[in-house]
Amino acid sequence: MAETQRHPFLQGLSKHRGAPPTVVVIFGASGDLTARKLIPAVFNLSYDNLLPADFFLVGYGRKAIPDEEFRTLATDAIKEFSRRELNAEVWGRVAANTSYVAGGYDERAAFDRLAQHIAAIEKKIGREVQTLFYISTPPSVFGPILQNLGASGLASKYLGQAHHSKVIIEKPFGKDLKSAQELNKTIRSVLEEHQVYRIDHYLGKETVQDLLVQRFANSIFEPLWNRNFIDHVQITVAEEVGVGTRGGYYEQSGALRDMIQNHTMQLLALTAMEPPVSLDAEAVRDEKVKVLKAIQPLRLGAGGDVARAQYSEGMMGGKQAKGYLQEEGINPQSATETYAGIRLSINNWRWQGVPFYLRSGKRMARRVTEIAVQFKRPPGTLFAESDRFNLAPNTLAFQIQPDEGLSMILNGKVPGLETRTQPVKMNFRYSTTYGSNTPEAYERLVLDAMVGDGTLFIRGDEAETSWKLYTPVLEAWAAAGREGMDSYPVGSWGPANADALLAASKHTWR
Ligand code: NDP
Ligand code: BG6
Repeated sequence: MAETQRHPFLQGLSKHRGAPPTVVVIFGASGDLTARKLIPAVFNLSYDNLLPADFFLVGYGRKAIPDEEFRTLATDAIKEFSRRELNAEVWGRVAANTSYVAGGYDERAAFDRLAQHIAAIEKKIGREVQTLFYISTPPSVFGPILQNLGASGLASKYLGQAHHSKVIIEKPFGKDLKSAQELNKTIRSVLEEHQVYRIDHYLGKETVQDLLVQRFANSIFEPLWNRNFIDHVQITVAEEVGVGTRGGYYEQSGALRDMIQNHTMQLLALTAMEPPVSLDAEAVRDEKVKVLKAIQPLRLGAGGDVARAQYSEGMMGGKQAKGYLQEEGINPQSATETYAGIRLSINNWRWQGVPFYLRSGKRMARRVTEIAVQFKRPPGTLFAESDRFNLAPNTLAFQIQPDEGLSMILNGKVPGLETRTQPVKMNFRYSTTYGSNTPEAYERLVLDAMVGDGTLFIRGDEAETSWKLYTPVLEAWAAAGREGMDSYPVGSWGPANADALLAASKHTWR
């Protein structure tokens, strides 16, 4: 396949991928996310011929940056962060239509200037464009930006039937139930829900989308996908990295807010939801909300459903590594968790009695995101665990990242004249089947928002349902301070209190 043809992955869930003439405005365009993810995503979409012919990129921020300088920043970002090398011709097409508007996020007049800037683009090309606003600033200014989009009329700019102005909102979507509700209220005061694209970049990952395909495009899983056959489910989002230079942000966040409430819960929702009636955004999101609502409130205190810990210093990758409390910008008495472990019960016909275990931590042994579905053991009438019969529970594991793929543990006969058994692993790897240069999550998500497909974004009630589950935990942890905070050495698989979550049902982490 020629490199510039549309990549098969990008055809995705919905059939119609053509976007109308579009102006993408990035608020916070001088920031880290813009450089590391958004500009490379735009470049790669252009490379794959997925941008409309009339495509314009406008950076917006408080500092005055001349157009030429913004283009240079963008070019440098592609060189440093894109999965593909810079291609001058491909990027040149976008760069020619790239500009910068300086203004405050709470400065009403600046939004009028932005509106005039967009009007000038429309005048130049002699047609109207749809506007896609990407809010990539710290959350403290999400509200003012939304309000000014409303007040300036930019939020209600309309192009044809399906292409109202659209707004992508970065995470974190609030810090608890109340703040998420307030943010939703602000959003609703200026936008209709179909205009809003709340990002969870895990939904843009290839393997997360593949979860839907594996579950619902195959007939062998669905009959087994319930409490009759599944013993329990483990969802792991382990990172090798620590907090790095993001101490200021992380101290206010912690693993529960940063990873569990959003990314890990999305993986859970897609694993546990009922088959949607269609692949439309509303149908998929209805099912996700339904299953999230069936989750039982978490039990707190000793023997409860939650565990938290901080990484402590030790050796990692042959080097001495700091503990969380020694990291730059971290309060030495900090009560912020770098690891959270959760045991969930879903009270519906499909899942009652099947524990779902979730864990996410920084500075763990290995970077791995995985959903492991462990099946019940067969009756041991013919093969019971013994010296000859080495048996493992059947486990289907979706390897979300890295080394993306799907594996199944089965028990097989060891070749030989005596009957001996041993667990064997069937392995499907993306890299061997499809090659390794797959699109980044942000490519998929920016494209989806441009074409108006909200399937892989979070709906307002979905965010609130997840916060409703975790807000009591956050409040209890805040009240307890450091009491009950466990620790785990850097480079390990987590704390003892998270093992205890599983031990009650005689389970162990994989
Ligand atoms: P930055 O801290 O780099 O900020 C982005 C831009 O916002 C800055 O360049 C600055 O632009 C403006 N800004 C910074 N601080 C303030 C402030 N206190 N008040 C008003 N404006 C400010 O953020 P990131 O790019 O890292 O992240 C942007 C968003 O994306 C955040 O919501 C973050 O949570 C989310 N995110 C980021 C990820 C990442 O890897 N970076 C990953 C996942 C989500 P200017 O001064 O020009 O106005
Ligand atoms: C972000 C978190 O949302 O996701 C980070 O804020 C985390 O703390 C990152 O490192 C992980 O994303 P990925 O795609 O590298 O798994």
